[in-house]
Amino acid sequence: MKTFQNLPDITGKRIIIRVDFNVPLDENGNVREDKRIQHALPTLRYLLEAGASQLVLMTHVGRPKNNEPNLKTDKIAAYLQSLLNIEVAKIDDWGEGGVPTSKIVMLENLRFNPAEKSKKESERDLFGKQLASLADFYVNEAFSNSHREHASMTSVPKFIPGFAGLGVEKEVNSIKKAIQNPEHPLVAIIGGLKADKLPAIDYLMNVADHILVAGALAFTLRKAQGVNVGSSKVDEEGMEELASLVEKITQSNKVLLPEDAVVADTFDEKANHKIVQIDQIEEGWMALDIGPKTIEKYSPYLQSAKTILWFGPIGVFEMEPFANGTRVIARAMAESPAITIIGGGDSAGAVSQLGLEEKMTLVSTGGGASLQMIEGKKLPAIEILK
Ligand code: 3PG
Repeated sequence: MKTFQNLPDITGKRIIIRVDFNVPLDENGNVREDKRIQHALPTLRYLLEAGASQLVLMTHVGRPKNNEPNLKTDKIAAYLQSLLNIEVAKIDDWGEGGVPTSKIVMLENLRFNPAEKSKKESERDLFGKQLASLADFYVNEAFSNSHREHASMTSVPKFIPGFAGLGVEKEVNSIKKAIQNPEHPLVAIIGGLKADKLPAIDYLMNVADHILVAGALAFTLRKAQGVNVGSSKVDEEGMEELASLVEKITQSNKVLLPEDAVVADTFDEKANHKIVQIDQIEEGWMALDIGPKTIEKYSPYLQSAKTILWFGPIGVFEMEPFANGTRVIARAMAESPAITIIGGGDSAGAVSQLGLEEKMTLVSTGGGASLQMIEGKKLPAIEILK
């Protein structure tokens, strides 16, 4: 992967940078949380200081269906301008008037153009070529979208030389190091809802010493074992699709599942809640966090681990009664001398809310992208930079 160490003299050159400013916005399109924007700042500053004449920034926001106005990049551009204290000119299109000469330009949401995500490579390449015409060099500073084969990720660097940004370099190398040459014991904590994490667990069974499953996924697997999980949220569809993996995973002695849960009678912070054994969840009650026995069962593995990977939320940590599992796991990781890697928006958000980010080896901006790396799959937008 070409990085900034391979960057030629960029004095007076225009750089087009694929960032992932797909950040949480409110209903008016205002930035609610800016982790991914902050994450790109060192790369932007580096390129400006190295003498680039212009930075053209491009991002997707959400999954637009109908060019929804609240998914426009205007407010993100204004937010970035306030962070950098340099004018960020937002443009809707560059067809007629071209790109203004301002130091930083922000393009409109890439996904407003269907070619960005087109299944046809020729359509993506056509759009990629247009984007490439705006600059001399391309930088990928969107690790969290690097598992996507989209025009801005894999087509633009076919037309102009492409390099990994500072954040991408750090994320790729840290995850690679943890996976390729992990220090043992390696413990993976897998949470969240979706059964699409099962292939990652399957892969981890080859490299990890212990896999601690939490989040709704754990109750999905318990259900697959025949346990009645009441009204707990489960990914039935995903489980059906991945039925053969479910059996393999639940039978593995490397995989640990919860013994108890904090259950609630509604999905609400103020709901009635209690702690029950995993096989005693009544109808109408749903598991929203792991319980104390599970924490007791999982903790020794975290204490003796030399590498800890954590993907996906443990419980509904935004609601205080169901935040304990997440808090305990995050604190155990923060106190551990192990290499600690966290991936995914929710887990990363929890760590940052708890103020523990600095205590971790890496808090990755990408859930899907980092998991794909852990599964041993190549990321197309990284491969193209080789
Ligand atoms: C993310 O938020 O994980 C990335 O921005 C990718 O977004 P997507 O899942 O909509 O492709």
